[in-house]
Amino acid sequence: MTVPRRQTKLAVVGAGAVGATLAFTALNRGTARTVALMDVNKAKVEAEVLDLQHGAMFVPQAEVIGSDDVEVCRDADVVVVTAGAKQRPGQSRLDLAEATISLTRAILPGLVEVAPHATFLLVTNPVDVVTRAAQEISGLPPERVFGSGTVLDSSRLRAALAQHCGVATANVHAYVAGEHGDSEIALWSSARIAGVPLLEWEPLPGRSPLDAEARKLIARDVVESAYRVIAGKGATNYAVGLAATRIVEAVLNDEHRVMPVSTRIDGFHGISDVCLSLPTLVDARGATTVVDTPLSDEEAEGLRSSAASVRAVQRRFDL
Ligand code: 2OP
Repeated sequence: MTVPRRQTKLAVVGAGAVGATLAFTALNRGTARTVALMDVNKAKVEAEVLDLQHGAMFVPQAEVIGSDDVEVCRDADVVVVTAGAKQRPGQSRLDLAEATISLTRAILPGLVEVAPHATFLLVTNPVDVVTRAAQEISGLPPERVFGSGTVLDSSRLRAALAQHCGVATANVHAYVAGEHGDSEIALWSSARIAGVPLLEWEPLPGRSPLDAEARKLIARDVVESAYRVIAGKGATNYAVGLAATRIVEAVLNDEHRVMPVSTRIDGFHGISDVCLSLPTLVDARGATTVVDTPLSDEEAEGLRSSAASVRAVQRRFDL
């Protein structure tokens, strides 16, 4: 017996590199029954929708719609916001705050009006500050408004560790926490490779040790990797599109998946009043519970200093 697919609707706001890739990824994976794309640039959104529709024969059955009118997002189950300022080579994510926050203020109320029961996923940078602003602007329960945070950075970390150690990425369990940006930190003390605590990992034959020096280089590589992609091709889109799609699936399928999304932190290791990423339960209710992850003293210190960097920017916007 074939089980009918639920009539789920995903709305993607912003048809730039990230939004269009997210829509493409979601269609490929059969993430939602309807994928709606919205952008102020009518010609661009219509062209992206046509291009996506033309692939209908090769992907799970889905409807693709798009418009420059917010109505296209009506009754969405999940709304992903990718619209905002583009990071130029040499700019940090925090440099984009001004432009992105004004845009969030302009578009979010209309989105909440047409999709009042949706879960809102913010992807636009600086994602932690934007998430905090979106929670305030929307007035929705905070668990239904969260950011993609360091889900992508954690994937970058796992891929780099897997390559260094010579194991599959699926055998690496490690999180990046804090700001999605320059002050983020790798949570080494709770990381594991094939069930072995990462800090006790013995190199496989022919592989170099995963000592403090190697870990430092890998962590730096993860922080700098987006800059390298932006320098080479002007934007990052594939990995962030996949990461956001995976988060959307955790919500639509009520997966209870633990992911390092950006949520409001109140009282974790002395950190409050800021949105940051920590391993968090994601399900149909949104991002509900931060896992009580043990931290080394150095990690707790790193997380507090990451929180301070984000808070310094959010204060400029009275958040
Ligand atoms: C990324 O990390 C630029 O935030 C974007 O790929």
